Amino acid sequence: MGAGILGIGRYLPEKVVTNFDLEKMMDTSDEWIRTRTGIEERRIAPDDLDTSDMAYFAAQKALEDAGISASDIDLILVATVTPDRPFPSVACMLQERLGATKAAALDISAACAGFMYGMVTAKQFIENGAYRHILVIGAEKLSKIINWKDRNTAVLFGDGAGAVVMGPVSEGRGILSFELGADGSGGKHLYQDEYVIMNGREVFKFAVRQMGESCINVLEKAGLSKQDVDFLIPHQANIRIVEAARQRLELPEEKMSTTVKKYGNTSAASIPISIVEELEAGKIKDGDLVIMVGFGGGLTWGAIALRWGR
Ligand SMILES: CC(C)(COP(=O)(O)OP(=O)(O)OC[C@H]1O[C@@H](n2cnc3c(N)ncnc32)[C@H](O)[C@@H]1OP(=O)(O)O)[C@@H](O)C(=O)NCCC(=O)NCCS
Repeated sequence: MGAGILGIGRYLPEKVVTNFDLEKMMDTSDEWIRTRTGIEERRIAPDDLDTSDMAYFAAQKALEDAGISASDIDLILVATVTPDRPFPSVACMLQERLGATKAAALDISAACAGFMYGMVTAKQFIENGAYRHILVIGAEKLSKIINWKDRNTAVLFGDGAGAVVMGPVSEGRGILSFELGADGSGGKHLYQDEYVIMNGREVFKFAVRQMGESCINVLEKAGLSKQDVDFLIPHQANIRIVEAARQRLELPEEKMSTTVKKYGNTSAASIPISIVEELEAGKIKDGDLVIMVGFGGGLTWGAIALRWGR
């Protein structure tokens, strides 16, 4: 028996902020943002909608999609760097709000790679039989830790949440292989002081190298090759970074998610948000080999090779 995705959901705030809106707020241009990042617009949450609210809405949809109730959940893992407060965790807030009375709950701090860390953690508990149903959520309200006067970072990020219910799936389905990694020596390139501070060029170089390598590594671990890949879901940071990963896998354009255009970089939420987008577009089908790969502050990275379906 493997560990896979039984249900999925997402939540995106309604308010769309375009590059043209940002032009009015800081010294930037739609042309610069589009050509350097691929981003056209992003969603920004209102003051009264916090990370736990978005996580809750996404989780409800994932539970419904999986056809299970909150009381069936054994563990809640929330990947976030923008919790409502340092503690209690967003996971504990959800445990109460969802009514997941028997679930253990904790947040995971691995920045934009957090959702990969969460899924891989859930896989261990499911495969060793300790837990059956685990809610893994990526949820971020990055807008509250962005310096809206810093054009280097403000144009890149957006808010949102995505959730999966993980559980046992049939042999050959679910997570086939994974890789997780960290390099604390690179922490100085991307961190939060009061606001997000970033050395864009260093993060860019790291991301291009690591995303490509991690994709190849998980394929090798699963005994598969580039030709076997049906769809690539990279963390949506920048169109040039994800393009480099696509080229490394020699995939055609239509086999990779590029939701960064519409939602910007939603950190830990970007991978599950993108999976929902591609499922709804009919791009991911039962039996497909899907590669997910993320990187982020820490520095951290993670990749998963997953055979879609239950
Ligand atoms: C941030 C990033 C888009 C910058 O792109 P770049 O091509 O490397 O651009 P540079 O850093 O060379 O900056 C070029 C110029 O544009 C300017 N610039 C930066 N942001 C700008 C903006 N929003 N609008 C207009 N100009 C901007 C810079 O000040 C710089 O000007 P200068 O040459 O006069 O100093 C890119 O480095 C990147 O995507 N890095 C990775 C970031 C990331 O993924 N972070 C999240 C990780 S999870």
